[in-house]
Amino acid sequence: MYSEKVMDHFQNPRNVGEIENASGVGTVGNAKCGDIMRIFLDIDENGVIRDVKFRTFGCGAAVASSSMATELVKGKTVQEAMQVTNRAVMEALDGLPPVKVHCSLLAEEAIRAALWDYAEKSGITIEGLERPGAMEDMQE
Ligand code: FES
Repeated sequence: MYSEKVMDHFQNPRNVGEIENASGVGTVGNAKCGDIMRIFLDIDENGVIRDVKFRTFGCGAAVASSSMATELVKGKTVQEAMQVTNRAVMEALDGLPPVKVHCSLLAEEAIRAALWDYAEKSGITIEGLERPGAMEDMQE
């Protein structure tokens, strides 16, 4: 049912943890399954993501998705991180079962919420980035 990559990232998740004084933090949740994902970004003065960590309270696919998403955005610019969609996360994981697609969507939303937080804190606009949904507020 799950690809080897999903199993690997679930059993050995990369970048688990938190970043103190992060440049941006994004928390999102899915109301149906109750899973919660939080992503911390450390972004340097050139807009490059030099570190990223996550905490996920959720299913195995959500853990694997957040692990893969953090790997995909690490070392990238903010604009490049905008390309890390749930589709990109799923492709990098060699696919997810249809009922688990929303888990990868949570990863995309968490990254964007963290980017939004960074943009607000630093007073910049990131092209194509929209304000995260009400879900973020629900978790605080
Ligand atoms: Fe909801 Fe995986 S079942 S995030």
